[in-house]
Amino acid sequence: MKLSRILSNHKDISRKQANWLIASGRVAVNNAICTDGAAEVDRFASVQMDGSTLQAAEPAHYLMLHKPAGFLSATLDNTHRTVMDLITPELRPDLHIAGRLDRASTGLLILTNDGRWSRQLTEPRIKIPKVYRVSTAYPISPETPHRFAEGIWFEFEQLTTSPADLDLLTPCEARVTIYEGRYHQVKRMFHAVGNRVTALHREQMGNIRLDDDLAAGEYRPLTAEEINLMPD
Ligand code: URA
Repeated sequence: MKLSRILSNHKDISRKQANWLIASGRVAVNNAICTDGAAEVDRFASVQMDGSTLQAAEPAHYLMLHKPAGFLSATLDNTHRTVMDLITPELRPDLHIAGRLDRASTGLLILTNDGRWSRQLTEPRIKIPKVYRVSTAYPISPETPHRFAEGIWFEFEQLTTSPADLDLLTPCEARVTIYEGRYHQVKRMFHAVGNRVTALHREQMGNIRLDDDLAAGEYRPLTAEEINLMPD
């Protein structure tokens, strides 16, 4: 929300007066004077005018979970355990998942209450790399890296996937990097080249790598550096 609107919502003042008060240096955002009424201020920032609080900062949460197999990437489900069962109850109500993993898939899952931030990770338009270690039922054919790089036609969505990278690790294992996050994307890409994924583990999203110190089922807050999502 614009800073001037936060003032006019809290005080009996017009947007014009709010802009004037802000321009006069009487308003602070996160304890620093802000003179721009058009500045975007979210619910995680505090706002004071003449030293009195107009908006208290809500705590923002950014968590990295090592998702084990068998847990649904959902906030609520009647049949299956969800990843929320792994998170301390006090944090659960506000959190959402930034990029789901299938129930059988494992690895990096990010949970947050900051929707503006998580959209940077999940918005297909913003090409954030997502890195997966994949095991397959059959040896990966020599033409697979080329097919992935060209993009795979998805009949249901009527689209071709963005170019993806494939590094062969062993005949039946690869590291695959995709730049979108479509439904069952990696499994469907392998299916399209006549193969089948038997295990899928997400290692990285943007510049956020799954911490080797986290055992399956464990989580930790992201560091300030990790919260700065954009890839190098
Ligand atoms: N692609 C898949 O097929 N499954 C996942 O869980 C993630 C990417």
